[in-house]
Amino acid sequence: MATIKENKAFWDGDYDWMEEGHEWSRAWGGADMQWHGTIMPRLHRYVPVNTVLEIAPGFGRWTNYLKDLCNRLILVDLSKKCIDGCRKKFSAYSNIEYHVNDGSSLAMVPDEEVDLVFSFDSLVHAERDVMESYVKQIAQKLSKDGVAFIHHSNIGEYKSYYRFWESTLWPKSIIEWFKEKNWIEPYDHWRAFSMTGRLMEKMIKDAGLFCMTQEYINWGTKPNHLIDCITVFSKRGSKWEGNTRRLYNRNFMKEAGLISELSKLYGVGAGKKRG
Ligand SMILES: C[S@@+](CC[C@H](N)C(=O)[O-])C[C@H]1O[C@@H](n2cnc3c(N)ncnc32)[C@H](O)[C@@H]1O
Repeated sequence: MATIKENKAFWDGDYDWMEEGHEWSRAWGGADMQWHGTIMPRLHRYVPVNTVLEIAPGFGRWTNYLKDLCNRLILVDLSKKCIDGCRKKFSAYSNIEYHVNDGSSLAMVPDEEVDLVFSFDSLVHAERDVMESYVKQIAQKLSKDGVAFIHHSNIGEYKSYYRFWESTLWPKSIIEWFKEKNWIEPYDHWRAFSMTGRLMEKMIKDAGLFCMTQEYINWGTKPNHLIDCITVFSKRGSKWEGNTRRLYNRNFMKEAGLISELSKLYGVGAGKKRG
């Protein structure tokens, strides 16, 4: 369970933010490669726009790119430490607004003005109650043709698998050995077990919105464990309304590996002489 209280305690307290989130881009060879190689190919149709809302920016790993793709960028995170960090880092930019929230409210965001709601590598830790609250409010915040691009958990589809290995009476040493051999998934990446992509689609429908695409992806997991999902949705009657498209992408980490190879040639800092 990843409750709001636990998220706040971790991100606002225990976590040191020494690398400001860049530590999670290593598999791609850096944040610049992850943005241009993985996020932008999925996001490019929806930017640039006037107003962007980024939910849960952390220390601004993606804010750094979003700020140049809009006239107004609204940041909302439950961690004061993160919002203070962003405020400091982006102090030279006058188009960014900063808000610490309670982990579920978007009351500080104006209604019907947001052209893009973006959240990546954050709400994977948000349980069903939080996602429900955000989706309902996004319905009020989106502009007529606005789009929400949200990365969230799908690990609920694998609940029995993870629970089995947690609760099995097999000796711990055998389980550790299996993990070392990579025969069982060693880690749930602190994903929210009450969330699935199917549930997200239902929340979107229930909020009177339209689910445009869902990409089910593996994240640091084996290709058959699609523990995450990227869902893109808009208002009903928007220019985006059509057929819902779904992709079960078992090659997401393979894509990261290829991008990481490319980073050696094209990444920021590639080719610099050492010493
Ligand atoms: C893993 S960090 C990722 C930050 C950033 N998206 C990145 O990729 O570098 C998770 C972030 O989500 C924020 N967060 C977690 N749950 C949240 C919630 N319910 N509402 C708002 N922010 C939340 C945390 O405070 C933290 O900044």
